[in-house]
Amino acid sequence: MSMRMSYLLTLVLAGALSSAAAQPAAAPEQVARGEYLARIGNCAGCHTAPGGADFAGGRAIDSLFGTFYAPNITADADTGIGRWSADDFWQAMHNGKRADGSAMYPACPYPNYTHVHREDIDAIYAYLRSLPPVQQQNRAHELSFPASARPLVSLWQWLFFKPGSFQDDPSQTPAWNRGAYLVQGLGHCSACHAERNAFGVSRGDGSAPGARIRNWYAPSLYSSAEAGLQAWPVEKGAALLRHGKAEEASAMGPMADVVFQSLQYLTEADAMAMATYLHALPDHDTEPAVRLLPVRQADLPAVMQRGQKIYEEHCQDCHGRDGEGSLAAPALAGNRAVVLADPTNLLNVIRDGGYPPSTGGNPRPYGMPPFGFLNDVELAALATYIRTSWGNAGTPVSSANVTRKD
Ligand code: HEC
Ligand code: HEC
Ligand code: HEC
Repeated sequence: MSMRMSYLLTLVLAGALSSAAAQPAAAPEQVARGEYLARIGNCAGCHTAPGGADFAGGRAIDSLFGTFYAPNITADADTGIGRWSADDFWQAMHNGKRADGSAMYPACPYPNYTHVHREDIDAIYAYLRSLPPVQQQNRAHELSFPASARPLVSLWQWLFFKPGSFQDDPSQTPAWNRGAYLVQGLGHCSACHAERNAFGVSRGDGSAPGARIRNWYAPSLYSSAEAGLQAWPVEKGAALLRHGKAEEASAMGPMADVVFQSLQYLTEADAMAMATYLHALPDHDTEPAVRLLPVRQADLPAVMQRGQKIYEEHCQDCHGRDGEGSLAAPALAGNRAVVLADPTNLLNVIRDGGYPPSTGGNPRPYGMPPFGFLNDVELAALATYIRTSWGNAGTPVSSANVTRKD
């Protein structure tokens, strides 16, 4: 081989090697870490359609502004994000910018993900790229004007969105900092637990009450009377997050989904860290998000009697004569989910029943049958009875408040 030939060959080889080096195969540890982090971010919860391929998109997400359809984030080059570089992916998660430079709707909770460190975003990217690409066209969102105009999302970002990475607070413990990082960032708890204003901006700073989500009420994490973990031992809070169940509390509705799809995979240390941070949040009464129609004082004795009769007939066997609970069912006495100012969740559970998520720590949970056959007057009486008996200090519920709005 001539000098010239071998020189050329070296160049070609070096070129091949360096283009391979531009897309180095991710280390298995990075992929595994990315899988764990994607669970905590619950990316699959939105980006996987019911019965569809993992991360191939298509799931409908209802909002104030219409229906979003989560896009395909598998590595398919044409219909997914196969052509996106690690930098493109970082731009999306950190700055809410798609690969073509256009602004992303905050229906993808990047206002939370922006807190996540680059190495963790890179790990999620490596994990997504390690999965088989799935060819599936994205479905267009169905939004009303002006929300349908994507260029206006840039204006929204300019007004309401500030990118920023989480910074450790050196005056706090490592566990608190880890918990704050996960709760504010990947866990995106405030995306559901804090009320949004008319522009869809949620105030995650504790000044906002809880929020309505999919016909449920996500109670405030800044009040121990609602969903806050301030008054509980840290172990109990961690158990609720991982297992969806802790003594007189259980995860229901959308929260049961979050536990099932995401929080049950937390390591014990990360669950403890989250609970440590939530335990230390300021604890204050939040404004009740609903004003209930009053029940006439004169009607109360008859309402209570009716409620008690229904309770004894349908509920007592599992929840106990005095709401003390049993092996099969949580206590209703002293249960904060039962006395929330907003009775929506209580009514949902009675009407639709409930299955706590099956998790490693609670693999075969007991379920509760639905009682949808009760009419509005009966439901109101039953709810009033449970909310005001056995030391529970809730407010009565009138049948006008029971009538379903969905
Ligand atoms: C609450 C639902 C929800 C969750 C949770 C969620 N996403 Fe999204 N995501 C969306 C929606 C809706 C869009 C479309 C936004 C738009 O059109 O601007 C989107 C867009 C994206 C895009 C842009 C894709 C494109 O083709 O434009 C990427 C990348 C992405 N999400 C990644 C993730 C990752 C990674 C996670 C987990 C860490 C995640 N998402 C969690 C709803 C969600
Ligand atoms: C998709 C919306 C959604 C997300 C995301 C979400 N939650 Fe919830 N959460 C709810 C709803 C709705 C309830 C009320 C139903 C219930 O009591 O389980 C709830 C209830 C709770 C409760 C109170 C349970 C009880 O009965 O005392 C805690 C604690 C909680 N969530 C913590 C969290 C934390 C921590 C995160 C983030 C890691 C989070 N949630 C993310 C919707 C959500
Ligand atoms: C067969 C046993 C059984 C019967 C009968 C039953 N429940 Fe339940 N109930 C359960 C179980 C199990 C749960 C936990 C379900 C979950 O976490 O999703 C539960 C949960 C609840 C909750 C939510 C508590 C919390 O901490 O989140 C309420 C409220 C409730 N039941 C009220 C009632 C009422 C009212 C009746 C009668 C109309 C009733 N139940 C009948 C077993 C039962």
